[in-house]
Amino acid sequence: MLKPDALPANGTDNQKRPVRGFGGAPGRPARILAVANQKGGVGKTTTAINLGTALAACGLRVLLLDLDPQANATTGLGTVPGAREPDSYDLIIGAAALPEVVVETEVPDLDLAPTSMHLSGAEIELVQASRREYRLADAIRGQAAGYDYVLIDCPPALGLLTLNALVAADGVLVPLQCEYYALEGVSHLVRTINRIKASFNNSLDIQGVVLTMHDKRNKLCGMVAEDVRKCFGSKVYRTIIPRNVRVSEAPSHGKPVLLYDLRCAGALAYAHLAREVVLRESELGNVRFHQ
Ligand SMILES: Nc1ncnc2c1ncn2[C@@H]1O[C@H](COP(=O)(O)OP(=O)(O)OP(=O)(O)O)[C@@H](O)[C@H]1O
Ligand SMILES: [Mg+2]
Repeated sequence: MLKPDALPANGTDNQKRPVRGFGGAPGRPARILAVANQKGGVGKTTTAINLGTALAACGLRVLLLDLDPQANATTGLGTVPGAREPDSYDLIIGAAALPEVVVETEVPDLDLAPTSMHLSGAEIELVQASRREYRLADAIRGQAAGYDYVLIDCPPALGLLTLNALVAADGVLVPLQCEYYALEGVSHLVRTINRIKASFNNSLDIQGVVLTMHDKRNKLCGMVAEDVRKCFGSKVYRTIIPRNVRVSEAPSHGKPVLLYDLRCAGALAYAHLAREVVLRESELGNVRFHQ
């Protein structure tokens, strides 16, 4: 099903250009998935970049929206943050519309709404704003019809930015690192999701839990994975992302691992994960394949 040959070995620098996503496919709105976990360093950005790339390699049109002022998804896709072009900061404060913000990446069918450290100011600026929880939803819902998926890379906090992502999203992807403290704080995340579902976005649900950075030589990793499955049952994807040095090297080259080393274990795992994500979507009645 995957079409890795669609991925170029060497891409060009991404630039602002008219983007195919807008005024594109009529009808169905994009499926919006927030990649969220308030715990830091669990693989949110890595999952957003590489799942996005693998979905795009399946022929799906994907927008990765960087909503973390650390801008790791922006740099990880080879874009320089902070060159004062409109970015997700302008989007969320209402100073720019989605088409003004989006850039292409070197991955065909994967676009990026980049960000910069300016976004950290939005947390404060929005406190007094009207509809402050709906800013991102207002900016992207109905505006991204040319995409199949919008993946939102959230910061490691449950502040106003993540709240905006969860209000805008149809589902949440929760990366959990296979380590002793994996489940710490997860009940808080689940309570937050339930509160947002009750107050702002009744269609929100956990779409899936992704186990990341698994080391098969480490017994504890296996035990943690088992615990997570006991806790979340079938929400946990069968694909486990292994700890793999090529995955951690790829961002320093501004590339997804699927471009950096398509055959490494990490790239293959993200390709498998994309397949599972699409299959789960079709189980939910959201078939996302193009003829
Ligand atoms: N499968 C993997 N194998 C090896 N290293 C990984 C893997 N996944 C992520 N990493 C590395 O772990 C670190 C944290 O990953 P990442 O930035 O994706 O986490 P995050 O949850 O987005 O962090 P933050 O909360 O700071 O935004 C990064 O250095 C990344 O390269
Ligand atoms: Mg991150």
